Amino acid sequence: MSINVAIDGPAGAGKSTIAKKLAKELDYIYVDTGAMYRAMALYMIEQKTDIQHMDAVRSACDAITYSDGEQQVILNGRNVNDFIRTEAVSEMSSKISAIPEVRAKLLSLQRSLAAASNVIMDGRDIGTHVLPNADVKIFLTADAHVRALRRYEEFTAKGIDCTLENVEREVIERDERDMNRAIAPLKQAEDAVRVD
Ligand code: DC
Repeated sequence: MSINVAIDGPAGAGKSTIAKKLAKELDYIYVDTGAMYRAMALYMIEQKTDIQHMDAVRSACDAITYSDGEQQVILNGRNVNDFIRTEAVSEMSSKISAIPEVRAKLLSLQRSLAAASNVIMDGRDIGTHVLPNADVKIFLTADAHVRALRRYEEFTAKGIDCTLENVEREVIERDERDMNRAIAPLKQAEDAVRVD
């Protein structure tokens, strides 16, 4: 039986930073589920998929093949790692993550990865939906202003032009959407350890 560690929490709390370090230390596989939603979002932006129309969303879901090799996100054979961290992709990924068809496609992929290997998986619904029997569950959070500041510093270090106000607004909007959607919303699992 593989060992599964779930890390959930809002945007910019440091989930992926911690998960990557832990995975290296423990020699587990790191599964960044946000990157999967981001890859799908990138595809739908590029294909100009009308996300109001379920037929269009369904055929986009069917068209996508995704693999995560060595923390590189491969979308239909193309490495998209450098294209999935933009503001436009963040917003789109949060929007499409509320669509049941999109979640269903990624859920089976996430569960099969966790069944096959010891994993540290981070996201929004890992402890509550994806891996309800995870061996360890952590809910990692921080004040929205602190999270926005981290994101802002990451962006400016990469030379991306932005303001702290805009980054903070985007983080807050995305959390609101992720916490209030009908399906698998961002929520602390009852048996998760909260780290603020
Ligand atoms: O973790 P992230 O910021 O890369 O995630 C991008 C978006 O994907 C996030 O705003 C909501 C969605 N997401 C989700 O709905 N469920 C997950 N397990 C992971 C991400």
